[in-house]
Amino acid sequence: MNGNHVRLTTSLPTEVIRCPEAELSLGALLRRWRGRALLTQEQLAQRTGLNVRTVRRLEHNVLQQPRITSILLLAEALELDSEERAMLAVVARGPSASPERVDPEETCPAPVTVPRQLPADIAAFVGRKHELTALSDYQNANTATVIAIDGMAGVGKTALAVHAAHLLSSRFPNGQLFVNLHGHTREMTPVDPRDALARMLRALGIPDDRIPGHIDDRAALYRSVVADREVLIVLDNAADEDQVRPLLPAGPGCLLIVTSRRRLIGLDDTRTLSLDVLPLEEAVALFTRMVGREHVADAPAGVLTETVERCGRLPLAIRIAAVRLRARPTWSVRHLLDRLTDDRLSELTTGRHSVTAALDLSYQRLTEDQRRVYRVLGSQAGTEFGVDEAAAVQHTTVVRARRQLDQLLDVHLLQEPAPCRYRFHDLVRDHISALLRRTPCEAARANTA
Ligand SMILES: Nc1ncnc2c1ncn2[C@@H]1O[C@H](COP(=O)(O)OP(=O)(O)OP(=O)(O)O)[C@@H](O)[C@H]1O
Ligand SMILES: [Mg+2]
Repeated sequence: MNGNHVRLTTSLPTEVIRCPEAELSLGALLRRWRGRALLTQEQLAQRTGLNVRTVRRLEHNVLQQPRITSILLLAEALELDSEERAMLAVVARGPSASPERVDPEETCPAPVTVPRQLPADIAAFVGRKHELTALSDYQNANTATVIAIDGMAGVGKTALAVHAAHLLSSRFPNGQLFVNLHGHTREMTPVDPRDALARMLRALGIPDDRIPGHIDDRAALYRSVVADREVLIVLDNAADEDQVRPLLPAGPGCLLIVTSRRRLIGLDDTRTLSLDVLPLEEAVALFTRMVGREHVADAPAGVLTETVERCGRLPLAIRIAAVRLRARPTWSVRHLLDRLTDDRLSELTTGRHSVTAALDLSYQRLTEDQRRVYRVLGSQAGTEFGVDEAAAVQHTTVVRARRQLDQLLDVHLLQEPAPCRYRFHDLVRDHISALLRRTPCEAARANTA
């Protein structure tokens, strides 16, 4: 008997039982499955990234006990189902692999690496109890769980995703992947999903020369690698659904948490968690923790609450305000509050971080028409308005205005506090005013819209 033939004696896939023992060689199975997939040896080599000579030698049982990554690639390229994968794993492991000894873990060959890619957790994480419960209460169904966290710039999507991922990491022994998709990053274009797949495959132990060129093949290999694994994947800062779709795992043991400034309503079977700004108590807690209790000890409670309200209870703004206060030992919280009352957007800037820059990135991702609507509504509509007013200030129809409002809602530049009532977050309104001051021609255009 050739080295890659095995004797199968117990309950096994029906195809194995029907198969005469003489045919149960790795080569025979590969030939049969390749024929079924209507592939030539050259095509199979191309799909797997293996050498044609390697494919030939495998099919002629000259090459025995191929590497685990090769088995995985062959299973993927030949579109084997789980029974066939099990069969391939048994046969490819050679005569010592009696079926009784097959470890279910090995029916889909294990990636060699267990990635631990989560960024450091936030030491001063506050609140979000309800959201953390929702994230940890997910139920494993017969497919991967996908949870999309959306919300305005700086509201704390990444902080929540990373914190939740750390809390949940022990449930995912096969690793945690983290990829920043740079949907809204200054001077960076959103990551091509093809590149994101390559990075994840590498992190899962697939060598570069085994990563297929075509995005569909990459996505298929990625799904195959994580199919029987328990892997937690965090995709941070997604631009839109198209960027995320090829990165969706399918296996029931996987949890994908994706963050985005855009509501990812076009993804099937996705649970959505829309983040709002912090409740007052949590906003004060974040500020106090960031500044240090000793620095706020003398501040009246009213000054603290007013300060975080001036920050719109937006975590990014609170953090920046706290960092500024900490860096100026002579300032009191009262002094910071006075400065925030004068011109809060220019106060809410420190080093590389600023509320203006964060909102600019959201603005830049809008189409020309959406930018115009944003400027006109932000400068001419009332504090809270309905669709009729939105249509009137733009001299357009109610139907069109409703669509435009939906588009701004979807990217969290607009809020809907009650059905069909709209308003801009205070900092967003300030951003629109600053935008019009910065570029007078845009102000002129806003006025003539
Ligand atoms: N619950 C929280 N506890 C402590 N810090 C927080 C919390 N939420 C957010 N932060 C801090 O606020 C800042 C902004 O948060 P984060 O970067 O998560 O926002 P984001 O919604 O992901 O923003 P973007 O849309 O730009 O990606 C960060 O410095 C983060 O550490
Ligand atoms: Mg983020």
